[in-house]
Amino acid sequence: MKTAVVTGGASGIGLGIAQRLRTGGYTVATLDLNPDNDDDLAYRADVTDPEEIAAALSAIRDRTGPVTILVNCAGLEGFKRFPDLTFAEWQRVFDVNVHGVFHCVQAVLPDMLAAGWGRIVNISSSSTHSGQPFMSHYVAAKSAVNGLTKSLALELGPSGITVNAVPPGFIDTPMLRKNEEVGRLGGPVEDHILRTPVRRIGTPADIAAACAFLISEEAGYITGQILGVNGGRNT
Ligand code: NAI
Repeated sequence: MKTAVVTGGASGIGLGIAQRLRTGGYTVATLDLNPDNDDDLAYRADVTDPEEIAAALSAIRDRTGPVTILVNCAGLEGFKRFPDLTFAEWQRVFDVNVHGVFHCVQAVLPDMLAAGWGRIVNISSSSTHSGQPFMSHYVAAKSAVNGLTKSLALELGPSGITVNAVPPGFIDTPMLRKNEEVGRLGGPVEDHILRTPVRRIGTPADIAAACAFLISEEAGYITGQILGVNGGRNT
């Protein structure tokens, strides 16, 4: 049975991905700042800390064998007018969203290279299609994730490893509901649904379905792609 690691797997989209991959027959371990204590393959690790990642991966490998699937879903957003944005805030958003992906890919890559097979899926953001006011640091960071995805796909393809990104748009998670609550969505969810071509909000299961496909054996000819899952809000 193949082992997958999902970062940010304790909440929202990451939780949905972990559940879907388990149903699909994979062994799934999660890394998160707030792990689910009832799940014995849920590990506490901050994706900005390479030592915590290494410790968690070593424990996971001891129990399940090599990790050949990685879904980078842990993310941190931010809202600030650009003139008010401090470099520390800019850097923190890059630390979690970009450097977190760097550390996690570096940590699992030896297993994938040894196996001659691997699947990496990076969860970016639909805001990278069009930009988003007050989210310059977040959009820049998630755009870097898309760029990293394409370059890694070219570099790792000859080693049997595919690398793709899924930029979600308007998915019903604690992150999105928190933004609705504090007025950062620019209106209630219902208004957004009316402007969404498929006329509903997305679910973690929608993103998980795309990930499950990209991870599957039959998706082996798909790499370096940015697969938008957003109900048609971005085309
Ligand atoms: P969420 O807030 O429900 O879940 C994020 C998870 O990441 C949490 O469990 C959190 O503890 C974990 N996390 C945050 N920082 C971490 C760190 N440094 N180390 C380890 N774990 C960390 O958010 P949601 O909505 O499920 O977001 C998941 C991903 O999807 C994020 O990368 C987000 O940027 C992206 N996204 C979500 C959209 C949406 O509509 N909900 C839209 C576009 C992108």
